[in-house]
Amino acid sequence: MLDEPLDLFSDATSRAQARMRELAKLIRHHNKLYHVLDTPEISDAEYDALFVELERLEREFPALAEADSPTKKVGAAGADKVLARGLAQGLQGGRHRVPMLSLSNAFSAEDVADFGARVMRFLGLGAWPELLVEPKIDGVSLSLTYENGVLVRALTRGDGEEGEDVTANVRTVADIPQRLGGTGWPASMEVRGEIYMENAAFAALNARQAAAGEKVFANPRNAAAGSLRQLDATITAARPLRFLAYALANQVPLATEDAVVQQLQTWGFAVPEVVLASTESALHEIYTTWLSGRYSKVPYAIDGLVYKVNDRTLQARLGELARTPRWAIAHKFPAEQVTTELLGIDVQVGRTGKLTPVAKLAPVAVGGVTVSNATLHNEDYIQQRDICVGDRVVVERAGDVIPQVVAVAKQAATRQAFSFPNHCPVCKSSAARVEGEADWFCENAADCPAQLEARLIHLVSRKALDIEGLGEKQLKLFIELGWIESLADIFRLPNHATAMRELEGFGDKKVTNLLAALKKAQQTTLPRLLIALGIRHIGEKIAELLASRFTTLTALREGFTQKTTPADLPMGIGPVMIAELQAFFNEPRNNKLLNELETLGVTAEVYIAEAKKLGFFSGKTVVLTGTLATLSRDEAKARLTAQGAKVTSSVTSKTNFVIAGAEAGSKLKDAEKLGIAVLDEAGFLENL
Ligand code: IVH
Repeated sequence: MLDEPLDLFSDATSRAQARMRELAKLIRHHNKLYHVLDTPEISDAEYDALFVELERLEREFPALAEADSPTKKVGAAGADKVLARGLAQGLQGGRHRVPMLSLSNAFSAEDVADFGARVMRFLGLGAWPELLVEPKIDGVSLSLTYENGVLVRALTRGDGEEGEDVTANVRTVADIPQRLGGTGWPASMEVRGEIYMENAAFAALNARQAAAGEKVFANPRNAAAGSLRQLDATITAARPLRFLAYALANQVPLATEDAVVQQLQTWGFAVPEVVLASTESALHEIYTTWLSGRYSKVPYAIDGLVYKVNDRTLQARLGELARTPRWAIAHKFPAEQVTTELLGIDVQVGRTGKLTPVAKLAPVAVGGVTVSNATLHNEDYIQQRDICVGDRVVVERAGDVIPQVVAVAKQAATRQAFSFPNHCPVCKSSAARVEGEADWFCENAADCPAQLEARLIHLVSRKALDIEGLGEKQLKLFIELGWIESLADIFRLPNHATAMRELEGFGDKKVTNLLAALKKAQQTTLPRLLIALGIRHIGEKIAELLASRFTTLTALREGFTQKTTPADLPMGIGPVMIAELQAFFNEPRNNKLLNELETLGVTAEVYIAEAKKLGFFSGKTVVLTGTLATLSRDEAKARLTAQGAKVTSSVTSKTNFVIAGAEAGSKLKDAEKLGIAVLDEAGFLENL
């Protein structure tokens, strides 16, 4: 079908333009039938003929060629000679307009029940709300931005705030529409979904790679990630990448999540199979069915199911925690188990000096990867399971979790129990095991080279200071050269720039990039800096909690060097962590390090928690009393804290507002006595 009748055109150019539009439209239509709906209507040869004709017209009339023409898609059939335009030199970073969240996990039916109970309590419901159930695709998440229906940008998840720009690569993926079909899309929108590789395509790719002497991928997810993050889009184009869309980051006038999925489909996206459930038992049944069909129901790897509250209004009320929504959860499938031979046991030294026994295994495939090392956790773990070298052992791996040996499957004929070393295998200093604890620690925290190396690797890692161009290999080399003897020495590397340029494999560009990365890392955030210090038990979540409570490093240091425990520590920071923090900040060696870092220009900006969008109650101390008709106590509290308010339980002169629901009692009286502003439910909601 033509856009306009032919006889309106008076010259060859106009006719060509009309034909080109028609061809582009036809090709998009058949692309979708073929790649998205799996229902091709024309033969490959007929398709190729359309494609070749369009290519010819574009060559003849280059000025008429549309920027988003299907021929510009590197991966499209017949386009093998068309190169992606403006290939990136390196992947650029890009900010997500709406942060890309992750999901919290449920590992058991009980966890799922807890999720349901939490949702009900938060919303004040008497029964489970309707949930949408989808497979959890084990791939790489991607965010696609469309402006006026045209794909303009594709970003990986990255840290959720900032991802890598993979637009050129994504243009080669046939499942991803360059231009939306249907109607009714917002002028600007972000579609989220998963890039993945089907199992069979993954196996074939690996076979091709191996035959060509190229890198073989560990599992379909790695293969998808590696293929997506290429600098040369023609490589991506040659990889069998697929895409399933499962979410829309925008506000759209759609009442439910399943309507979103349907809408995405009408716009040209492939979507996962979804089903609705309203009871715990229905969920359970769906889960069991999917679990038994885990390797056969869909041709790609799935690592669980995702349950999402279907009603988008309820979703909005439930809101989000730091990086996961309250309205969804991933119900993970159990770990896969296999058996293999235990060839030996090594002892590794971690950044805290912890000695971890590591099983050396005869390589075995489990959960989609080939495993030859697995943790044995600690001395007791080995003893309790009576694990000996030579035994056939059971190994399991769940998702991203480190593989572990869980039991002996068959004992070796002759056995000798493993005796745990009482010294550090690297620096040979004595190791100690604290009464009541399972782990041995190398006691030479100040000088053990293995500890230093592990701390350095941790400090530059993605979740800590994220220093690009400085990995394990480079760190090892710089240690060997004597350039790095402490954590602070990382920021003294610029002193060695001249010598570094002379090193094999470095050169001008690499050194310049590394210096820039170091400079960037100097201005960091408080949670990142805290993680970088490698204090025991202080991971991402806790670092964020600490940062929101103290906002600056100075305040935090002060808090944990006092004899008394700081007041108002957020929930989740227990006595063991407090003891570690106090020990860390009272240790002269660590204080020296912190002072050195400061002198070297390492600073963390004043931390304001992400979720705290400034609002009416921001920075205010609020007391809730009585019963609110429209929202539960949990929800009211969450919405206040999301604005940056502090919610306390008793009314004092420091209280800024008391929110009084029905049947408010003594707290309301206290407020009146102290002359504190009181808001009723309507007044509260108005300002929320
Ligand atoms: S929804 C706010 N649905 O799982 C909710 N995620 O563990 C955002 N994933 O980062 C995610 N299949 O990459 C959603 N059907 C599905 C999914 C899915 C796979 C991935 C996604 C996410 C990760 C969280």
